Amino acid sequence: MLELSGINQYYGGSHILSDVHLSVGAGELICILGRNGVGKTTLMRSIMGMVGIKSGAMTFAGQTITQHTTEQRARAGIGFVPQGREIFPLLTVEENLKLALAGRRDKIRKIPSQIHDLFPVLLEMRHRRGGDLSGGQQQQLAIGRALVLDPKILLLDEPTEGIQPNIVVEIGHVLRRLNQELGLAVLLVEQKLPFARQVADRFVIMERGHIQASGAMDQLNEELIQRYLTV
Ligand SMILES: Nc1ncnc2c1ncn2[C@@H]1O[C@H](COP(=O)(O)OP(=O)(O)OP(=O)(O)O)[C@@H](O)[C@H]1O
Ligand SMILES: [Mg+2]
Repeated sequence: MLELSGINQYYGGSHILSDVHLSVGAGELICILGRNGVGKTTLMRSIMGMVGIKSGAMTFAGQTITQHTTEQRARAGIGFVPQGREIFPLLTVEENLKLALAGRRDKIRKIPSQIHDLFPVLLEMRHRRGGDLSGGQQQQLAIGRALVLDPKILLLDEPTEGIQPNIVVEIGHVLRRLNQELGLAVLLVEQKLPFARQVADRFVIMERGHIQASGAMDQLNEELIQRYLTV
């Protein structure tokens, strides 16, 4: 459903993404692993059209999206939860979600009840300002906001970063539920190995902008971990 081929990206003179090929099938749950600074966020932002690429092609649901704007990609069904969450701190939970609704293709302007089923805390705290939520609650809001657009694939960039363990578990359950019950494809960037193992079916390892290894999660062995992931 999402295909990247031969993606090269530069920041100024620095070659950040090198000939990246990646394919996410419908209903797949894939985790991108890699140490700090290897280009994971740059890859996610490239998929969203937030940074320009030098060469390569991207298709989504059979359409070439390489030249599409971020908004067009979002409307086509690519949901994105950025690293650091980036919710609006001064707006309430409800306002954050409603703002996202404006991006829907259909005329639905009501927050889908599914969002509150998945994250009851967002209903409970609907009048609270985003900035007054805990880190974990903000992350749930950021995921809820992406789901408001009814995506076909959800990209998440380190959703467990700086979050208390019980909410990490909850987020893991929600991702599996979305994947299994609704068939949502998920492409996740994650540095916490136990979480990645629990949630994802497949892994992709990046190092200095290259994809070095990939496979079924049970093929992620000690050698790969030592070589590419331990700090
Ligand atoms: N806007 C930018 N301008 C110039 N260089 C950048 C920019 N953003 C990132 N970089 C550089 O590109 C490289 C990849 O960064 P990126 O944020 O994609 O890594 P990452 O794998 O997401 O890291 P982390 O695990 O710390 O989030 C790094 O060397 C970083 O310093
Ligand atoms: Mg990053």
